[in-house]
Amino acid sequence: MANIEKVLLLDAVDPKCGEVLQEAGIAVTTRGKLTKEQLIHELTEHDAVVVRSATRITEEALAGGGRLRVIGRAGTGVDNIDVKAATRKGVLVMNTPGGNTLSAAEHTCAMVCALSRFLPQACAALKEGRWDRKTYLGSELHGKTLAIVGLGRIGREVAKRMQAFGMTTIGYDPMIPADVTAGWGVESLSLEALWPRADYITVHTPLLPHTKNLIGEKVFSVCKPGVRVVNVARGGIVDEAALLKALDSGVCGGAALDVFVEEPPTDLTLCKHPKVICTPHLGANTVEAQRRVALEIAQQIVDMSKGRPLTGI
Ligand code: NAD
Ligand code: MLT
Repeated sequence: MANIEKVLLLDAVDPKCGEVLQEAGIAVTTRGKLTKEQLIHELTEHDAVVVRSATRITEEALAGGGRLRVIGRAGTGVDNIDVKAATRKGVLVMNTPGGNTLSAAEHTCAMVCALSRFLPQACAALKEGRWDRKTYLGSELHGKTLAIVGLGRIGREVAKRMQAFGMTTIGYDPMIPADVTAGWGVESLSLEALWPRADYITVHTPLLPHTKNLIGEKVFSVCKPGVRVVNVARGGIVDEAALLKALDSGVCGGAALDVFVEEPPTDLTLCKHPKVICTPHLGANTVEAQRRVALEIAQQIVDMSKGRPLTGI
């Protein structure tokens, strides 16, 4: 149990978060973009802070000490929070895994569909006055193979949905036994066996040292020519330089990117590539997901203040 009287809400967290906290008698401060100095100061003045992905809670941001006890991440990835530094200072980090799963899965499926029929490119051409049906000859998803790397919450929801399109789903996840994935209609394979079978690859792992550049030159060299790649997980899981090279050479037939090594990207070469479709980290950006993660993180903070069992830590 922690004494939580004042919570700082950043990154335009859904207003439901503040409502739930206030109903529990907790005071709420909502702030927009803060300078480094303002962030350090505000953190010292509050018992908890709630962020989405824009604010980086670094060791430096925590340097002021003060009353901060909890960092709540309204979302899944905690890569914008220095969890080790927070832990050293006795500050608990909580997230809301699962709150945006369906939105991220739906976005991934939309990307696969858009890739197969060149929807963004054809739409842009028509808006420019070009009635071009020849360039945008698509291919059906039915009968194609989707390789899913990472069969956690999002990966398995993607599998379920793409099976409805008649895709064969294969996958790899070191933590999930083959008999379990078989129950979801996903054939579990080693990575070596996965790559040559894939028409589409989608990644759903966290960005970790062992998943950084997981899809790079070596992988492209053993894939089917024209393989298409989707990344709605984290920038850097797909090696951006290798991807560009593979797109240029035709080894990769198209890529759909929601996430980037640098966000927003300053180098737009990949985004502007004719075979790339892209969105500005919109996977979880739905009314429903934002409301869910806001409600969940608020409830977790209320539970903590009341000494109830905790989730998302
Ligand atoms: P999860 O923890 O439920 O699943 C991740 C899975 O990856 C786990 O089952 C884990 O065993 C597996 N994994 C770890 N290392 C692996 C490896 N080397 N190869 C294959 N699998 C490996 O997470 P989730 O909720 O499904 O989220 C997946 C990713 O999507 C996270 O990085 C998350 O931050 C990101 N995400 C992005 C958006 C967005 O807006 N674009 C939204 C939500 C989540
Ligand atoms: C997440 O990890 O939850 C997603 O990337 C979405 C977000 O950053 O809010």
